Amino acid sequence: MNKPSEIAPATGKLGVLIPGMGAVATTFIAGVEAIKAGLGQPYGSLTQMAAIRLGKRTENRSPRIKDFVPLAGLEDLVFGGWDVFPDDAYAAAVHAGVLDNSTLDALKEPLEAIKPWKAAFDRDYVRRLDGPHVKEAKSKRELVQQIRADIQRFRADTGVDRMVMIWCGSTEIFLQPTAVHASIEAFERGLDANDPGIAPSMLYAWAALQEGIPFMNGAPNLTVDVPAMVELATERNVPVGGKDFKTGQTLMKTILAPGFKARMLGVKGWFSTNILGNRDGEVLDDPYSFKTKEESKLSVLECILQPHLYPELYEKLYHKVRINYYPPRRDEKEGWDNIDIFGWLGYPMQIKVDFLCRDSILAAPLVLDLVLFTDLAQRSGRRGIQEWLSFYFKSPMAAPELYPEHDLFIQLMKLKNTLRFMQGEDLITHLGHEYYD
Ligand SMILES: NC(=O)c1ccc[n+]([C@@H]2O[C@H](COP(=O)([O-])OP(=O)(O)OC[C@H]3O[C@@H](n4cnc5c(N)ncnc54)[C@H](O)[C@@H]3O)[C@@H](O)[C@H]2O)c1
Repeated sequence: MNKPSEIAPATGKLGVLIPGMGAVATTFIAGVEAIKAGLGQPYGSLTQMAAIRLGKRTENRSPRIKDFVPLAGLEDLVFGGWDVFPDDAYAAAVHAGVLDNSTLDALKEPLEAIKPWKAAFDRDYVRRLDGPHVKEAKSKRELVQQIRADIQRFRADTGVDRMVMIWCGSTEIFLQPTAVHASIEAFERGLDANDPGIAPSMLYAWAALQEGIPFMNGAPNLTVDVPAMVELATERNVPVGGKDFKTGQTLMKTILAPGFKARMLGVKGWFSTNILGNRDGEVLDDPYSFKTKEESKLSVLECILQPHLYPELYEKLYHKVRINYYPPRRDEKEGWDNIDIFGWLGYPMQIKVDFLCRDSILAAPLVLDLVLFTDLAQRSGRRGIQEWLSFYFKSPMAAPELYPEHDLFIQLMKLKNTLRFMQGEDLITHLGHEYYD
């Protein structure tokens, strides 16, 4: 048996701070309200639905995760957020068009009460977006201060006990780490100098970490995936994680690719294309934002298939990802994959996947789980990168010397073993030899 972690109880209210109150955020918030009102079930959420096996298979101990670790309850969540548009959560959800109007009308009162604060926004970082609800400031430092003031006001007004911030804002232009991201000091200087390497998403993250609030990143933006942020998170004992919610096509990839590798089947080509027509699709229509998303989507296969170990199977893999903005589809994305594989003696085969999905319906339960697990991580004294939450991300953050783990099933095992470890239960290795001795 491991020694259980000391976990502070989930008493009081948990504030959920969301930069970007668009389709994903409002589907998440409205979903929580709908579940609380008995209007729907939390399908897709591990924290609400999944069981966890404990001990030997003969023990038949499989409690629900929410009964095994102390998580905040849905009734304890209080929402606040920022957006470039002043619409309250009801109006934003109607605009997003994900949930039907009869569901939203039943939830009008709690949703209308959530009004976003002015955004820290700059069109240089999201070129297809322009809105009126934006903070004015002379420097990036001043913007961080204004975000911190919003957080402090929210804390005072609502009396929340703890908070988690989760980025559900747009995909920003592609940025790579530079000197300004190398240390806390360099970043602080960059805030005064308005360094172009500091994107708006980083201002929210910096504000959160300074306030001792964990930060999770649902977009592929660089944001907390730089040394200065990890250093600050470690110094302040705060968890961070990202990047980019693993939902439609990439979820499929991380389910299928481990299977091909497990059976030593080769992959010659993987062509992925999408049509989607929501605001996210419009933002991604800009090549600078698309580049950020493309990098995130492309990294997956290389890491799972390990061409350096299996050059004859995967070295020549041609991987192409396309996203096409097509307004009639709104949030109901369609993702096609053509996969050219080969088997025994090199004989070729093809697999076609056509996933008619709903982007925000797949993303909303991930937001809920990330909020609840991140709060648990904070209460159990974990800080810095939360690799055990890789399960939720297309492009998981990992320590600099490690390659990220992309295989969905390894990620799930890592997540569940972390929960077992926290509670002092045996880790499950699936060895199983004791049943036959
Ligand atoms: N839906 C999915 O399946 C999915 C999967 C992975 C990642 N994502 C990412 O999640 C994010 C949200 O997706 P969505 O479909 O809700 O998009 P959306 O366009 O509906 O919502 C994003 C919101 O962020 C706001 N915003 C942009 N910059 C901001 C800033 N600096 N401060 C405050 N608000 C800001 C926009 O005004 C918009 O309302 C996107 O980055 C998307 O790429 C979504």
